[in-house]
Amino acid sequence: MLRILGIESSCDETAVALLKSDGILFDLEKNLVASQVDIHAKYGGVVPEVAARQHAEVLFPLLVEAGVPRGGEGIDAIAVTYGPGLAPALRIGVEAAKMLSWLWDKPLVPVNHLEGHIYSAWLGAEVPPELPALVLIVSGGHTEWILMKDHGDYEILGQTRDDAAGEAFDKTAKLLGLGYPGGPALSKLAEQGNPKSIDFPRAMLRSGDLDVSFSGLKTAVSVYLQKNPDSPKENIAASFQAAVVDTLLFKTREAINQTNPKSLIVAGGVSANVALRIAMKDLAKQMNISFFVPSLEFTGDNAAMIAVAGAMRFASGKYTKDTFFTVATPGLSM
Ligand code: KG4
Ligand code: ZN
Repeated sequence: MLRILGIESSCDETAVALLKSDGILFDLEKNLVASQVDIHAKYGGVVPEVAARQHAEVLFPLLVEAGVPRGGEGIDAIAVTYGPGLAPALRIGVEAAKMLSWLWDKPLVPVNHLEGHIYSAWLGAEVPPELPALVLIVSGGHTEWILMKDHGDYEILGQTRDDAAGEAFDKTAKLLGLGYPGGPALSKLAEQGNPKSIDFPRAMLRSGDLDVSFSGLKTAVSVYLQKNPDSPKENIAASFQAAVVDTLLFKTREAINQTNPKSLIVAGGVSANVALRIAMKDLAKQMNISFFVPSLEFTGDNAAMIAVAGAMRFASGKYTKDTFFTVATPGLSM
């Protein structure tokens, strides 16, 4: 069994995890997440320099709290997110990880944040997803369909041309006066509304590719609100959510038809959305493939998923071994 220390600081959560792995089974010993959501809420979004300062303040106490041994005893490798994400925020985790790696003389495995989200589906799964898998990543910064042909071998099939799904949720929640980040609040409100009450646009369904666009949807909600200021907000929320879920579902079905995968994986912050989870599970059932979605504690940013991705990379030897690597926007395959 390998024992991996995972560190994540790409956005507004500082996270540390200790994980044991044999490449198939994962034993999560520690999984700590310090969220900065309350700090950024007053700005209505994540401020990179504020995030970085906060990461610098809490990362070291978090390592101590996790019981990471002073000399790195019993730790086989360190996995750290090196991109994509906010550069000033990423740098805090990356530089801390480099320093520990140097002091302990232990290997350092730089991990792509999106690959981390993908491997969140391995955490707690009774049997790991069979490959090839079609992956839909839906988060605050990304909406992407990826074909995972093998470990470390990915093909990006399609993505959003503008707003990410989570961004669309957050911006629409703001229009509805639900605060930041509004995704969870909007989906809660949507539970009480009628998803068929307003016919919001499903953009790019006939585009012939696997790209989507959500900026027009947000504008449609804004225009609707101006014209119908007294319309029940729960109906707007439910109808907006239905438009997002329908769009994601349509393109996911297309992607499955095109690539014929053995599994469907949905991951990232928005995969916490109940309506989306139900719709995707049904789709996988219809298409006769197995379905994987992380449990709610692993949908948002965390270091457990970074440790899993790092463990897989470490075991395969496929990772950047440049000791002087820095923050980057890395590709998924290498
Ligand atoms: O993966 P994540 O924690 O951070 C990024 O890497 O971006 O995703 C955060 C996003 C936010 O936009 C948040 O509003 C959204 O995930 N989100 C949700 C739900 N829970 C979180 N969106 C819709 N429904 C939810 N239940
Ligand atoms: Zn993320």
